[in-house]
Amino acid sequence: MLKINNATKSFAGIVAVDGCSFEIKKGTISALIGPNGAGKTTLFNCISRIYPIDSGEIIYKDRRLDLMPTHKIARLGIGRSFQITRTLDHLSVTENLVLHTAGGIGSHLLLPAITMENRQKAGEIMEFLGISALADMDMGSLSFGQKKLLDLGTVLMADPELILLDEPAAGVNLRLLEDIIEKLVTLKNQGKTIFLIEHNMDLVMEISDEVIVMSAGMIIAQGQPTEIQKNAEVLDAYLGTNA
Ligand SMILES: Nc1ncnc2c1ncn2[C@@H]1O[C@H](COP(=O)(O)OP(=O)(O)O)[C@@H](O)[C@H]1O
Ligand SMILES: [Mg+2]
Repeated sequence: MLKINNATKSFAGIVAVDGCSFEIKKGTISALIGPNGAGKTTLFNCISRIYPIDSGEIIYKDRRLDLMPTHKIARLGIGRSFQITRTLDHLSVTENLVLHTAGGIGSHLLLPAITMENRQKAGEIMEFLGISALADMDMGSLSFGQKKLLDLGTVLMADPELILLDEPAAGVNLRLLEDIIEKLVTLKNQGKTIFLIEHNMDLVMEISDEVIVMSAGMIIAQGQPTEIQKNAEVLDAYLGTNA
């Protein structure tokens, strides 16, 4: 479904993504792991075209994403989480869900344009995430964990086929972690393809069909969770910088 061929991205001398190649299969959950600074987020930014790649190819459903204008990519069915750090605290959870989807922060000017359909969609997603009770609460009163769920919710608003999640479980407690795992597995069972960056190895090993390991900009291993767990090079990458 998503194929990365020899992709490279540098920032003023730093090669953040260095000749990466791998493939994500439709209907699977794949995890991208690796120490801090490995280039994981940059790779996601290249896939969602926040950054153009310097060389290589990014192919989604047989189309060259890297050659496509950014505004077309949004309509292809790729959803991407942006860890919600800024929210409109004085607005409700429902309003935040709809507005983040519509145009990100600053889009409160669009508030009068929220349709019944948007509200209904937001309602369905909150129900799926088990946070319907929060619908009318001020965003500012939510806990960190609740905001993490909302983060997933904003991605789902656009009904993406391929879901990119950057550290969906970072900083959450065990109960919420189990909750998130259950939601991700449900989404996969609904036919979604999930590609996530995650440091929590329990989550990665439990839900991934495929694990891709990145270190210093390069893909150093790819395989099923059990294979990856045995891989010495992978353990080195972690123990070296991130133990
Ligand atoms: N916009 C940017 N400008 C300059 N350097 C960047 C930028 N984004 C990322 N980098 C650098 O690219 C490298 C990889 O970073 P990142 O992709 O965030 O790693 P990870 O997500 O694996 O922790 C780091 O050295 C980081 O400093
Ligand atoms: Mg990162």
